[in-house]
Amino acid sequence: MGIMNRIGTPLSPSATRVMLLGCGELGKEVIIALQRLGCEVIGVDRYADAPGMQVAHRSHVVTMTDGAALRALIEKEKPHLVVPEIEAIATATLVEIERDGVAGHFPEFIPTARAAQLTMNREGIRRLAAEELGLPTSPYQFADSLAEMQAAIDSIGFPCVVKPVMSSSGKGQSLLKSQADVKAAWDYAQAGGRVGAGRIIVEGFIDFDYEITLLTVRAVGANSNVETFFCEPIGHVQVNGDYVESWQPMAMTPTALQKSRDIARAITGKLGGRGIFGVELFVKDDQVWFSEVSPRPHDTGLVTLATQRLSEFELHARAILGLPVDTSLRRPGASAVIYGGMEAQGIAFEGVAQALQVPESDLRLFGKPESFAKRRMGVAVANADTTDEARTRAKLAASRVKPVKGN
Ligand SMILES: Nc1ncnc2c1ncn2[C@@H]1O[C@H](COP(=O)(O)OP(=O)(O)OP(=O)(O)O)[C@@H](O)[C@H]1O
Ligand SMILES: [Mg+2]
Repeated sequence: MGIMNRIGTPLSPSATRVMLLGCGELGKEVIIALQRLGCEVIGVDRYADAPGMQVAHRSHVVTMTDGAALRALIEKEKPHLVVPEIEAIATATLVEIERDGVAGHFPEFIPTARAAQLTMNREGIRRLAAEELGLPTSPYQFADSLAEMQAAIDSIGFPCVVKPVMSSSGKGQSLLKSQADVKAAWDYAQAGGRVGAGRIIVEGFIDFDYEITLLTVRAVGANSNVETFFCEPIGHVQVNGDYVESWQPMAMTPTALQKSRDIARAITGKLGGRGIFGVELFVKDDQVWFSEVSPRPHDTGLVTLATQRLSEFELHARAILGLPVDTSLRRPGASAVIYGGMEAQGIAFEGVAQALQVPESDLRLFGKPESFAKRRMGVAVANADTTDEARTRAKLAASRVKPVKGN
């Protein structure tokens, strides 16, 4: 489809149809942004009533690692664009369909099927970044057994980090400080991988001063070519591999910012296509390391709902439709995560009014049908003159939202 200067009417033969593979809180915002631009949106996820399904034109419950099921759905719906929102998808099937089409229909995959395939596995993206592009990363080795992992650790040393190659949100991930941690880290990685037991990566621990997400947009520019645009850097705090707080802009030295942009431009250029990417980087003084990249909106980028003229979701929608983008910051801001705090269905949230008493604050309650203690159920965002003040406000607003049993 490429550049689109024409958008049809949803639910009519002229419709511009977009299929979201994944309907979490990030997908939900992308769907809203697409619908505001007049697209017809089909939501897909592994469970019913996922947040994005609640706002999509229609939806399907499908095991997204099931290639045959995905193929059948794409054949049935004939979307113009297919937009992965999560990593755990049968990406080999997407690659096949991108190449051969399905029943004579050629959907466009965002940003490309290959990018989705490379980034769902830490090995693909790490080798591309470090070995093909020569970008600075932590030292690393892959291992398929405890003995291989021990050998990798013997050469990388402590402290180090062990992660399943197929996992996200810190699942199966351990920080190892000494030999005493090795066996438990192996067992935890084997239990926490997306596909169960399997290959792991050992990474040397980077003693960074701070880490950022550099939202990077590949979109059609003024001269009709795909150009690279950068948002202001987002600082964030991770606890056990999961983000709890983010703010924008993160103050950086000009050198560190330039290096970050160079790395982000290189890796997103290599992945290709159009859309937003969350490039995760570690920074110490003027040194910058590439960590990983999401070829889609990033959870730490929820802050952009408050800070930018166009949120990361609106930027993604614009970029994938071939429309112009504007990455400018409007006002400093921050986000703070609201966890479920309990295991229950259909929970409720009290204190919403008190939360929104906080100056310049806003909330998103995602509407997930089931809560877990550490499941992200909502987010508070806030603006202020400084990011420090915005962080205080966002955390205060988030803390006032109290999850309670639904009935
Ligand atoms: N080599 C490392 N050195 C220092 N800290 C690290 C290293 N690897 C990971 N971390 C810390 O753990 C966090 C999560 O790591 P990573 O992004 O690789 O995991 P993930 O499971 O893909 O998380 P997510 O999906 O939430 O981005 C990082 O943001 C960083 O804070
Ligand atoms: Mg990460």
